[in-house]
Amino acid sequence: MVWKLGLTSRPKEEDDMKLETIVHAPRMTITLAGQLDVNAAPALEAVLDQQLHNITELVLDVDGLDHVSSVGLRVFLHAQQKMKAAHGSLLMKNVGQPIADILEVTGLDRILHFERKHRQLSVAGLQMIAKGANGECYKVDEETVVKLYFDFVDKECAEREKEIATEAFVAGVPTALSFDVVQCGTRMGVMYEMLKADTLALYMEKNVERLDEVVAMYVRFCKQIHAIPSDTSSFPDAVTLACGYVDACDFFNDRQRTFLKERLMRTERHGTLIHWDLHPGNIMMQGDSLCLIDMGDMAVGTPYFDLGQIKHVLHYCAGLGLCHKFTGLGDTNAMRVWQMFVAGYFDNPNPDALKVIEADIDFYRSIKNVYLYLCGSGGETMRARRKDFIFQTLPKEFAELR
Ligand SMILES: Nc1ncnc2c1ncn2[C@@H]1O[C@H](COP(=O)(O)OP(=O)(O)OP(=O)(O)O)[C@@H](O)[C@H]1O
Ligand SMILES: [Mg+2]
Repeated sequence: MVWKLGLTSRPKEEDDMKLETIVHAPRMTITLAGQLDVNAAPALEAVLDQQLHNITELVLDVDGLDHVSSVGLRVFLHAQQKMKAAHGSLLMKNVGQPIADILEVTGLDRILHFERKHRQLSVAGLQMIAKGANGECYKVDEETVVKLYFDFVDKECAEREKEIATEAFVAGVPTALSFDVVQCGTRMGVMYEMLKADTLALYMEKNVERLDEVVAMYVRFCKQIHAIPSDTSSFPDAVTLACGYVDACDFFNDRQRTFLKERLMRTERHGTLIHWDLHPGNIMMQGDSLCLIDMGDMAVGTPYFDLGQIKHVLHYCAGLGLCHKFTGLGDTNAMRVWQMFVAGYFDNPNPDALKVIEADIDFYRSIKNVYLYLCGSGGETMRARRKDFIFQTLPKEFAELR
């Protein structure tokens, strides 16, 4: 399609443009389809002039829009000005490539906030490589896979994972290339470079006789990630997120929330990266080197957040006989790996020092469980377990706070 700015001489047709509004104050969604040109623009102008009372979130869904002229673009600008004056926001969503091109060429991309329309993908006939708690991974071709989230997962997860994976790659994290966000029916997914490799969990399971060496490699890899500097302009701040989880959790009382947040605020700010789900099932063994996957929770924060989740999977889940199910690493081996890992990470601490270290790890482990509780990850049984686990793991005085 050729885009012609200023094309105002099109003959008027009855259904040049279709316009629908849905109002859920303070949000209004206007769906536009067809041609937004000089003939159609007044209809949109009229909505903007007459129906924006009490609206502070205006969404223009341009999924069906296949043409916009300069007059139409000026109406978008007008909408943006109106929302700015109302201290509200305007979001254009489902912007296809032609409209994205024109926004970029005209410089309006600097002013208008828009989300691109996602490519549609069908997984019918594709080979499923793996199925996790939140989605499935399919081989698309020899070079690419798609990680497709289940419907119950927040639709913004795929966008967030893609953004974080891109930031991580740029920050120097060894990770798979991430491509576009795609849609498969109602499900969202992210396209990734296919890593022709086993997960580290499977590799450990297949090479138990070399566990010492492989765990040492795992320790070095985690330390490498934990030494990558970053700031909160590229990644979220783990402590801020964690305080938000504590606030959102319905089974804490106010004093318990204060206790947890004060403790979180005392966290040393390292200014380095964490993955926040750094168990061996989320690392791929590519030849002799390791590569991270499952990037959606990366943040800036103390490595203890990571160590907490590693311990949770290798020690607690293994104790329930679930590590094998989640990662492919046998439960007994997983427990061994945790002992070797923590000793390696902290340079063989003596038993007293190790106790102190593990108590700190347990604190951050509980916080991750608050997050997983809130997400509902693992279903209702797991949710109930997480709640019990949180109270068992935190110091005794915590449960007694009333
Ligand atoms: N880039 C990739 N190349 C090859 N395989 C991959 C890639 N990304 C993911 N996989 C496979 O898909 C599995 C699940 O991926 P991932 O951990 O990202 O998804 P998940 O839904 O978070 O799963 P889980 O809940 O089990 O952690 C991985 O263990 C791996 O086997
Ligand atoms: Mg994973």
